[in-house]
Amino acid sequence: MIHALGVGVRAGGEVLLAPVTLHVPAGHVVAVSGPSGSGKSTLLKCLAGHLRPSEGEVRIGGQDIWALSEGRRAAFRRAQVGQVFQESDLLEELTVAENVALPFLFNGLGRTEAMERAEAVLADVDCHRLADRRPSTLSVGQAQRVAVARACITQGRVLLADEPTASLDRANAMRVGRLLVELARARGLAMVVTTHDPAVVALCDQEFPIMVRSGL
Ligand SMILES: Nc1ncnc2c1ncn2[C@@H]1O[C@H](COP(=O)(O)OP(=O)(O)O)[C@@H](O)[C@H]1O
Ligand SMILES: [Mg+2]
Repeated sequence: MIHALGVGVRAGGEVLLAPVTLHVPAGHVVAVSGPSGSGKSTLLKCLAGHLRPSEGEVRIGGQDIWALSEGRRAAFRRAQVGQVFQESDLLEELTVAENVALPFLFNGLGRTEAMERAEAVLADVDCHRLADRRPSTLSVGQAQRVAVARACITQGRVLLADEPTASLDRANAMRVGRLLVELARARGLAMVVTTHDPAVVALCDQEFPIMVRSGL
């Protein structure tokens, strides 16, 4: 589903990411590990279509995403790629349920149906009591569970998570980590998660360690 073929990034004569080849089939969860500065976030940005690699190719579901125009790449990302970041990126102007409904609205559902589905998703992740709250009133663990749920409900087949548990305490890190992996498996998503945390790595199907830059 996700194929990164020799994907590398250089800028100003520096190697930000030494070339990486990675294959992630549907339903498979890969943990990208490595020290800070090794290029984990840079790799995810290349996979998500946010940062053009200086070399190599990114294929998602057979599509070479960097061969698309910028507009088509953005549309492809909206349709295919769920993303989770270190800090949950819920919109403060919206309630929790409205935040979760957004992907459904983008996909063309009417408001009533989108809100009903959002409430069902929140119930699935034990957050239905939070539906009418504003994101800033949630704990970081609750906010990250909502962000994970939202990322998993798109019609897409791919989930990219950049250190999604790094801001959480141990108990919440494990809860969010398990939720991510369970949702990805249940939905048959191809998932790449970056993490420093061996306990999160242990939840995944495979570890892909990125070595410190080789200084090419
Ligand atoms: N926008 C940027 N411009 C220049 N260098 C950057 C930029 N973003 C990240 N870097 C550098 O790229 C390298 C890899 O960073 P990053 O992918 O964030 O690593 P990680 O996520 O593994 O901590 C680091 O040396 C970092 O300083
Ligand atoms: Mg990073």
